[in-house]
Amino acid sequence: MLQHFAVWLAATPISMVIQNVLWIIPAVQTVHILAIAVVMSSVAMITLRIFGLAGRGSTMAETADRYVPWIWTALAILALTGLTLITGEPVRSLTNPAFQLKMAMLAVAIVVTTLFQVTVLRGSVVWTASPRPAPPVRAMALATMILWCAIAVAGRWIAYLILDYGA
Ligand code: HEM
Repeated sequence: MLQHFAVWLAATPISMVIQNVLWIIPAVQTVHILAIAVVMSSVAMITLRIFGLAGRGSTMAETADRYVPWIWTALAILALTGLTLITGEPVRSLTNPAFQLKMAMLAVAIVVTTLFQVTVLRGSVVWTASPRPAPPVRAMALATMILWCAIAVAGRWIAYLILDYGA
């Protein structure tokens, strides 16, 4: 089913334009990579603050206010550039196990980021009880950082796990 959709999409005029105008895919991949850097550095700054290793002069609410908007903005850019890359090379990505794993992990990361933002906004004791959150919260923060790294690794591995359907 997904394979048929991918083969159909690859034959559409918009896919043809993305495939045949040589600068589109390299330019879009470049923007994709720059947006990854914004997400990863913002998540890293929040994680360092949770561990009390950076930004100790700021509360968790101030830290979230500063970095979470960058994560959502960069994710919107990643979604747009990612959709362009999918439209240009649908067989390469849609049926690709690394891509599917990446999207599943991204869904989890988006839920965790939303939970973080909502609990900080509500002034949850998780973030206000002490300057440095409790060990289970720090463990969760470390797991989230590792999850974002795994998403990046899966993104890179898309290029190596291409299933050829003769499109
Ligand atoms: C928001 C939804 C996203 C979509 C739809 C998407 C889609 C894609 C697609 C189709 C590719 C091209 C793969 C290829 O042809 O080799 C790609 C590459 C990649 N993506 Fe994403 N992506 C998204 C978000 C992310 C995020 C959040 C990260 C990391 C935090 C990420 C990391 C990567 C990496 C590292 C590559 C390889 C870049 C390269 O080697 O040029 N992507 N993505």
